[in-house]
Amino acid sequence: MSSFSFDRDNSLYKNRDALLEEYTPNNLVGRDDELEEYHAALQPIINGEAPSNIFLYGKSGVGKTAATRFLLNQLQEDAARYDDISLSVIEINCDGLNSSYQVAVRLVNTLRDPADQISNTGYPQAQVYSFLWDELDKLGGTIIIVLDEVDHINDNSILYQIPRARSNGYLEHAKIGLIGISNDLSFRDSLSAKVRSSLCEKEVSFPPYNASELQKVLHQRDQVAFHDNALADDVIPLCAAYGAQDAGDARQALDLLLEAGDLARKDAAEQVVDKHVQEARRKLERDRIMEGVADLTQHARLILYALTSIEAEGNTPARSRDIRPRYEQLCSHIGTEALTSRRMRDHLADLAMLGVISSTEKNEGMSGGKYREHALKQDLQLVVSALEETIELAGVHESIRPYYQSLLDDRET
Ligand SMILES: Nc1ncnc2c1ncn2[C@@H]1O[C@H](COP(=O)(O)OP(=O)(O)OP(=O)(O)O)[C@@H](O)[C@H]1O
Ligand SMILES: [Mg+2]
Repeated sequence: MSSFSFDRDNSLYKNRDALLEEYTPNNLVGRDDELEEYHAALQPIINGEAPSNIFLYGKSGVGKTAATRFLLNQLQEDAARYDDISLSVIEINCDGLNSSYQVAVRLVNTLRDPADQISNTGYPQAQVYSFLWDELDKLGGTIIIVLDEVDHINDNSILYQIPRARSNGYLEHAKIGLIGISNDLSFRDSLSAKVRSSLCEKEVSFPPYNASELQKVLHQRDQVAFHDNALADDVIPLCAAYGAQDAGDARQALDLLLEAGDLARKDAAEQVVDKHVQEARRKLERDRIMEGVADLTQHARLILYALTSIEAEGNTPARSRDIRPRYEQLCSHIGTEALTSRRMRDHLADLAMLGVISSTEKNEGMSGGKYREHALKQDLQLVVSALEETIELAGVHESIRPYYQSLLDDRET
């Protein structure tokens, strides 16, 4: 047998897929108050009254999509018991659909027969809306339209049109309830007053999970995904504590548990233990920084490179006016013009948001005023590897040479 032959290994996992994004838990834990509020906002539907429009917001991974599916499934089941309610639910994710026009086309096509679809160009907007009202009226009854990640739409037209379609006389048979979901907390404020008053009739907010709520989420998933006793006692509390400390994001906490499980499996360990969680956390953090840096603009990367070289010289924390000359030097190496000091400070703030640098405000009182000091928050070697392409482009600064070299050496071995 080759040393790379595969044997089935089910010793830790009972159903690993239950930890993946696509898995829908059949019950939601740790969201009781929020579900109650959401439930109340949906209540008119079962009473046969006009549905309210609902705006649901909260940061990433706090259960907005999961809670919406859970409650709407329940609602559909319960509505089936009443003869006088005909309820349909249409859920659309607006990621990738960046205008009201595209959303309207998607809605029409979702409602229409596959043989009778309309194209993504081809019709004036008013015509597409008119197709939409026709389809909705043909379906009739109460129709809930869920627009998930609604902040991806660049214009508000559809958020204005759908809630008013009935009062404007475009719909006769259908009663529409619109549910908009967003993790961009500034989205609501960016809406015009008239859109806000119709879309945000009922608002439900989901806060980040705290550690004890995350423990509930993880325990529930443990039972489906792992065999009994596959996890050491402190694994779930530890994942939950990290998750709460980071962003209160259930997706991140579940990813951490999955990564820890995979590491334990790779080690052929009998149990997932503390050490696996620590190692998994380092790996995920590393991936996150690598991806985050790769997504930065070239100037943001050059500014990070400048700060990294100053850190390697032992001169951090540094003020932006100390980083600037190094940044300008790097810009001139690649023949590009440096951004203004103001734009540079904006980039430093973005880097701090990403968690790759830390910025602290200093106050020198009356004489010196306020300023910020910056330093790397992540391991220097990690940042150097994330910046590899930029370093190749702008040249290897003397101070980071050993780190760059060790990157190349690692690759050879
Ligand atoms: N209360 C919960 N109980 C069980 N699983 C949960 C719970 N909350 C979230 N999850 C799981 O965590 C993951 C993220 O949740 P969800 O997709 O609902 O987040 P979201 O708020 O919609 O985030 P985003 O804004 O990024 O879309 C999903 O896999 C979901 O099944
Ligand atoms: Mg979601």
